[in-house]
Amino acid sequence: MKRAWINYVLDILMLLTAIVLGISSLLVWVVLPKGYSPQWLLWIAIHKWSGFALFAEAFVHIALHWRWLWTMTKKVLRR
Ligand code: HEM
Repeated sequence: MKRAWINYVLDILMLLTAIVLGISSLLVWVVLPKGYSPQWLLWIAIHKWSGFALFAEAFVHIALHWRWLWTMTKKVLRR
C-alpha cells in the first residue's frame, strides 16, 4: 500500500474512533447512571477500548510523521 493510502486509512480510523470515544465519554459522564448495570458495563468497555485504540493510533500517526515533526521542531527552535 502506498504511503498516502496508509495515512488516509489511519486518519479515517482515528476520526471514527474519536467519534466512538466522544459518544461513549458523554454517555458514561452525563447520561448513564453509574453502577453495574449491563448498559454501564457495555459502554464503559466501549469507552476504555476506544480510548486505548485512539491512543495507539495517535502513536502510529506520530511515528509515520516523525521526520516532518523533527524538521519542524528544528525550524521552530532555530527562530
Ligand atoms: C483518550 C481519551 C480517554 C481515555 C484513554 C479514557 C480511558 C478511560 C478508562 C480506562 C476508564 C476506566 C474504565 C473502567 O472503569 O473500566 C475511563 C472512565 C471514565 N471516563 Fe474516560 N477516557 C478518555 C476520555 C474521556 C473523556 C473525554 C471523558 C469525558 C468527557 C471521559 C469520562 C470518563 C468517565 C465519566 C469515566 C467513568 C469514571 C468512573 O467510573 O467513575 N473519559 N476512561
